[in-house]
Amino acid sequence: MSNTDFLPIKGTDYVEFYVGNAKQAAHYYQTAFGFQPLAYAGLETGLKDRASYALRQGKITFVFTTALIPESPIAEHQKTHGDGIKTIALWVDDATKAWKETTSRGARSCMEPKKIIDEYGEIILSGIHIYGETVHVFVERKNYFGAFMPGFRKWEPEYRPAETGLKYVDHIVGNVGWGEMNKWVNFYGKVMGFEQLVSFDDKDISTEYTALMSKVMANDNMRIKFPINEPAEGRKKSQIEEYIEFYRGAGAQHVAMATDNIVETIQQLKARGVEFLHVPDTYYDTVIDRVKEIEEDLETLKKLRILIDRDEDGYLLQLFTKPVEDRPTVFFEIIQRKGAKSFGKGNFKALFEAIELEQASRGTL
Ligand code: FE2
Repeated sequence: MSNTDFLPIKGTDYVEFYVGNAKQAAHYYQTAFGFQPLAYAGLETGLKDRASYALRQGKITFVFTTALIPESPIAEHQKTHGDGIKTIALWVDDATKAWKETTSRGARSCMEPKKIIDEYGEIILSGIHIYGETVHVFVERKNYFGAFMPGFRKWEPEYRPAETGLKYVDHIVGNVGWGEMNKWVNFYGKVMGFEQLVSFDDKDISTEYTALMSKVMANDNMRIKFPINEPAEGRKKSQIEEYIEFYRGAGAQHVAMATDNIVETIQQLKARGVEFLHVPDTYYDTVIDRVKEIEEDLETLKKLRILIDRDEDGYLLQLFTKPVEDRPTVFFEIIQRKGAKSFGKGNFKALFEAIELEQASRGTL
């Protein structure tokens, strides 16, 4: 870590989804993805307007929150955006300093630093607005020893399907509107001290119909990586435009979750009903020419439709789910890195062609 990093971040603390039915969402992430019950807050813990379920797998913590009353801003959010990601929470040593450093550089505050306390210690939270209605919450938990945070109680149901090998959040992608990518690249650079990793333009990632531009911003220790996408002009509507139309604005597009064994993880997820994008057969005809030697059996990868890409540091294996709600918005990526530090640029064309097949079937291409 460099001495000049004014916003040291230890990792992703949690990702909070605002959903229409948190009880059922929690069940889906337990059953389909193998997240483990962690903590609960709702009527039984004294809340009147919302309920939240926290689940964990490896270092990944998801919180599913729903409104209990129609006047709640959570209900408004859900009405506008459908189920989606409200909060990308970042784990820091000093949430007060994180708030001061970012707001003094132009971030708009959504939560002044506040201390919350229970019998297990204290947590300090603060927050800033990012793209769309999404926010970052800074979480300081060095003096907290409970399950998740004050306000929640331990959630210990008997129902506990096994984990599926998901380890940590690799990156979280934001979709922003036409011409807004550089605004948010500059935001992460100036306000949060991130640096740009990779850039590619619509010449890199365009198919007959779809085009987009993307830049990746990363923090000092590289634990936080945020690719920012904006739509580019194509012959028909791009998947980024489709997202923005259905999400009614900018928002988080996908969370990439890392595994040490993508073959086992994908087998598990498929057996539990997670739906993945269909990669065309023809992808596997030429992929080895592109990525050269890999340790995995190509037939196994083909059977599971796992994608492969290589950069100068190594290779990676990845696969994308279909959107996990009825609006074609938020989805997940499963990724296993074998040296590669990039994001699967070589797969974008094959992938977009697969997405376009889905768009065509929805009549939104
Ligand atoms: Fe990704």
